[in-house]
Amino acid sequence: MKGIFISFEGIEGSGKSTQASLLSKYLSEKGYETVLTAEPGGTPISLKIREILLSLDNKNMTHVTELLLYNAARAQHIHELIMPALNRGAFVITDRFTDSTYAYQGYGRGISLNLLDSIDSIATNNLRPNITFLLDLDVEIGLMRNKGINKIDRLELEDIEFHKKVRAGYLALAEKEPDRIKIVDASLEHNRVYEKVISIITNYISQHGL
Ligand code: TMP
Repeated sequence: MKGIFISFEGIEGSGKSTQASLLSKYLSEKGYETVLTAEPGGTPISLKIREILLSLDNKNMTHVTELLLYNAARAQHIHELIMPALNRGAFVITDRFTDSTYAYQGYGRGISLNLLDSIDSIATNNLRPNITFLLDLDVEIGLMRNKGINKIDRLELEDIEFHKKVRAGYLALAEKEPDRIKIVDASLEHNRVYEKVISIITNYISQHGL
């Protein structure tokens, strides 16, 4: 793997998609090959799994089914899109990756982190991003931002307590892996968040002589 793998994480409404696409544009303009993708998704099979996961028709999905489907979508995403791009030496930027599973299915749903580790090693072969941006935001603000754009799916319908557990989970993950997971305050204006992301990435690029 010669490329650089970057993920954006955070609760609903934290602005991940906007920042991921701004970073992708910045790196392409610098002349790097850049692949911008998102989970669950990134390939036709993973997008079909996404529909099952997020459909409001599937309210009786068990937590284990949900966990396995996120991992299934990810295994396909890695095989078909992420690894080939990293092997070519590209920057791959994904809106969500494994930390979402730890935050939502682990801390949010309460599935044991050891069980997540076992399934994760099958699905990802322990692939981890080089850098993860955790866009941290108050849950009420995030959900309000999403309501503003009428974005409602099966997970967004969960109560506020669930989303609070997810946010706390993300912060716990960042505490465990401070070198990889960089916390950025997502309550700031978009362009201030962007400046912070760019400053972290330019440091990384110069430290690694890229
Ligand atoms: P999105 O709204 O960022 O596209 O993500 C879709 C939803 O899926 C979001 O509510 C977070 C959730 N999710 C998980 O619960 N576990 C995962 O592993 C991933 C990738 C997403």
